[in-house]
Amino acid sequence: MQMYSPFSEMPDYAFPRLRKLLDEIKPSSETIDMSIGEPKHTYPPFVNKIINSDLSGLNRYPLNNGTESLIKSIASWASTRYELNNLEYHNRLIILNGSREGIFNSTLSLFPRDKASKKKYVIIPNPFYQCYLAASIAANAQPIFVSACKDTNYLPDFDAIPKNILEKAGIFFICSPSNPHGSTANFDYWRNLIHLSERYNFRIFSDECYSEIYRHIKPLGVISVAEKMGADLEKISVFQSLSKRSNLPGIRSGFSINGKFTTQILKKVRAYGGAPLATPFQNVSEKIWLDEEHVELNRLEYNKKFKLAESMFKDYHNFKIPEAGFFICLAVDNPVSFTKELWQNTGVKVLPGPYLCNFNNLSVSESQKVSSFVRIALVEKENKLKDGLNKIKNFLAKNPKFVLEDC
Ligand SMILES: Cc1ncc(COP(=O)(O)O)c(C=O)c1O
Repeated sequence: MQMYSPFSEMPDYAFPRLRKLLDEIKPSSETIDMSIGEPKHTYPPFVNKIINSDLSGLNRYPLNNGTESLIKSIASWASTRYELNNLEYHNRLIILNGSREGIFNSTLSLFPRDKASKKKYVIIPNPFYQCYLAASIAANAQPIFVSACKDTNYLPDFDAIPKNILEKAGIFFICSPSNPHGSTANFDYWRNLIHLSERYNFRIFSDECYSEIYRHIKPLGVISVAEKMGADLEKISVFQSLSKRSNLPGIRSGFSINGKFTTQILKKVRAYGGAPLATPFQNVSEKIWLDEEHVELNRLEYNKKFKLAESMFKDYHNFKIPEAGFFICLAVDNPVSFTKELWQNTGVKVLPGPYLCNFNNLSVSESQKVSSFVRIALVEKENKLKDGLNKIKNFLAKNPKFVLEDC
């Protein structure tokens, strides 16, 4: 007999859906995968050396709260990056096994489910990083999607959210730089969101894992603004990771900054159910957070790629180089068919916008506004990337039915 699961109605994750769409189709030429945001630039050479030189610690349970030197190095990075004075790191930092794990488990641990508060909503930008949806369902909360499209500079416009929703919101997810559009929240945006969270008593979960991959201006983190404002830090959680910053998604090193009381709760829960980073990875992670040279080189490499993409697509409707992140989004009509035909005819794989969106309660025109694009990851090596972008450009030229003049 099938047992009920709150996840049975949840759509499959974007990549299994993409596989289902494309697996039966045999592409006509060599394949180039531009669908997944998995960094392919090199990571610092000292990483392998350190791991190879010391695998001791595998016979011990790793520390849930992180080694002292890892916590200190993350505290040093975060204090500099966010201009924090006296970050009480033992009371404010949680060591994560990648930011995805932290986002998921923090939602479970922190969604205010008590009956008195009447909280029942999690607010999520649309399009969105898929983990936010599963985390909300796991927390027995109802996700409310807020459009983040061209009209709103690809960030959710919180002024458009009805008061009765804000009153019952427990967590507000925000991704800055946003995935997929690479938009960043400025000081006023953060200040207004913080004011709103204090007025309506919800937590801000700020996913900032793309913050180090920026073009010219270092994105402002919510915690910098919160500290300047003297805001209630218990309402703010920031998620960070080495995955994009250092091209090391395999190391699974991340952290979150939280208020003191929130940190206590998270540590308590994680002592029961945490999945801490293996000790050799904690040891190497500590060195990676302290090294900025490879991060600067990484940024330069991405910026070269964005110049290349700009030279190729600057005349395309609505084309914009994002402020940050490593994706470009091309506005196309019928993105799922575009993805299928592009794959069949050129072997280039991209991710259709609708797979990153939720359409519940959206009108047809609003649905098109949020999802009429394909996401292209600029992660491949330069020659392969150029080849892939050329193929997309030529495909669009030959198939004007997909060209979308406005969205
Ligand atoms: C917006 C966003 N947040 C979080 C993550 C999770 O990254 P990680 O768990 O590797 O830190 C990703 C990964 O692609 C992402 O795109």
